[in-house]
Amino acid sequence: MFEEMNEKLGKFGVVPVVVLNDAKDAEPLAKALCDGGLACAEVTFRTAAAEESIRIMSENHPEMLVGAGTVLTKEQVDRAVNAGAKFIVSPGFDPEIVDYCIEKNVPVYPGTITPSEVAQGVKRGLKVLKFFPAEQAGGLARIKAMCAAYVGLKFMPTGGISAGNLKDYLECKSIAACGGSWMVKANMIEAGEFDKISQLCREALEIVHSVRG
Ligand code: 3PG
Repeated sequence: MFEEMNEKLGKFGVVPVVVLNDAKDAEPLAKALCDGGLACAEVTFRTAAAEESIRIMSENHPEMLVGAGTVLTKEQVDRAVNAGAKFIVSPGFDPEIVDYCIEKNVPVYPGTITPSEVAQGVKRGLKVLKFFPAEQAGGLARIKAMCAAYVGLKFMPTGGISAGNLKDYLECKSIAACGGSWMVKANMIEAGEFDKISQLCREALEIVHSVRG
């Protein structure tokens, strides 16, 4: 389950991190992402609309890979999974949440930034960890330094990644996929700029393909 999800996310190469304030935007957003060739989203539990948005996206677009982000409690894990989330992302390393997901066989990507946090993930057999907040914490240089100690481990960095630095991250073999909100900004959703979202997804995928073929 975990390996399969790591592979799927790796194939996408980029994961749009989305904040939906209103579940009515979930369907047009899902369509925009799919139209842009990026049938994948991390819907963050930062808003009350997250659970319903995950449900709408997963039910209407079974071809989509929908996960839940900013998951801070076990209760949110349950709500996300029941709504259709296929993976869980947390900003930090909360052993309780990680162990709960492992117990339930739900792929989980806890946030790490230090070797001590990475060690906690490695100990539990995780092969891909989130690295957050990526740019603010030292970016690629920090990831490379940590991977020298943890051979074979991969990261999913988020925080400060955009079309401008995506290529640099993807060129590093220790990167599974990059997450970020640059393709789906709240103001684009508010303005109904779904074509723009599709376009930004296409551009991101072009970068992925230029690096990974
Ligand atoms: C996350 O939750 O992973 C980050 O908030 C995404 O960071 P970004 O908005 O800088 O892309």
